[in-house]
Amino acid sequence: MPDLSTIRTLLSQEYDLKPSVELAEATKDIYAKVDRVISPADWAIFAPYVVAINRLKKQRNAVILAHNYMTPEIYHGIADHVGDSLQLAIMATKVTEDVIVQCGVHFMAETSKILNPSKTVLMPDMAAGCSLAESITAEGVAEMRAKYPGAPVVSYVNTTAEVKAASDICCTSANALQIVEAMDGDTVIMTPDRYLAQNVANQSTKKVVFWEGSCIVHELYTAEDLRAYRESDPEVKIIAHPECTPEVVAEADFTGSTSGIIDWLHRHNPAKAMLVTECSMAANISDELPDVEFAKPCNMCPYMKKITLEKVLYTLHTMTQEVIVDPQIAEKACLSVTRMIDLSQSLAKSA
Ligand code: 13P
Ligand code: SF4
Repeated sequence: MPDLSTIRTLLSQEYDLKPSVELAEATKDIYAKVDRVISPADWAIFAPYVVAINRLKKQRNAVILAHNYMTPEIYHGIADHVGDSLQLAIMATKVTEDVIVQCGVHFMAETSKILNPSKTVLMPDMAAGCSLAESITAEGVAEMRAKYPGAPVVSYVNTTAEVKAASDICCTSANALQIVEAMDGDTVIMTPDRYLAQNVANQSTKKVVFWEGSCIVHELYTAEDLRAYRESDPEVKIIAHPECTPEVVAEADFTGSTSGIIDWLHRHNPAKAMLVTECSMAANISDELPDVEFAKPCNMCPYMKKITLEKVLYTLHTMTQEVIVDPQIAEKACLSVTRMIDLSQSLAKSA
């Protein structure tokens, strides 16, 4: 990908991207969803990009799948579908348009390509990785199999296609416990997130052994910080993601995937909530939960934040940044992901 100044020069030759009060007014319906978190002056900067991307999406027959951690201007301004990792994977299987633009991180784009290989999957910044996906290779999975012969390998979707292909089944934060419980045998290998694995182990009947990876965003939270926060504000509900340490999870009123967190907030509508997860979550849902006051401490994912409106516009304009997965690896990885989706859906039906 060219550097940002080259991207900006190219875009300015093709589009009028100057801040525009007229385009801000023309997109006021979208702005109404973000007016708590984006100032009118900033929306006048974003609006020309939002208009250009939404127009170009139609010309290219493209759809934008965006993770809950995307910035509000992406989440509300240009995304066609938003969700957690499981929802985005299921959505990818259903896309009928020619092109998928993945606003999220690289493993999510790979998952879309694996599940819907005839589509062109574009990634606005190939460097949008993930500390978990980078922590393990297929050799690491083989090492775990050698250490625990016969134990099934459940790999988090936050892994490369090679790791998915070397695993028996995938899981996400929305279904990890159910998937582990459904495995044969007493011992289950989980990769690569040690904290997700420990949190599952605390609720599981299985012996869970795990790889030592971690999320650089969620591991920053400490139980001491949360206790201090609760002491200073006893009314606050603390809602954590299961990539946090077990000590942090023990302090939380609820723990779940990003979409699980949104569902919980809708069901409980607390006066105050602290989301122990990535910063954009609270910003994205503040419009649909107007009665909830969100406490500010949060950590930013540097990978997710690589995705910006200008990179999305550049990617769609040039139709570059295509995600390619070796077909043999994709075939095996697809088995692990579809096994997860099928099992997750059948368990949800029988619940
Ligand atoms: P979920 O949205 O599946 O909970 O995942 C969180 C995450 O860290 C994705 O990178
Ligand atoms: Fe990876 Fe953590 Fe960022 Fe999610 S929040 S993409 S798990 S580093």
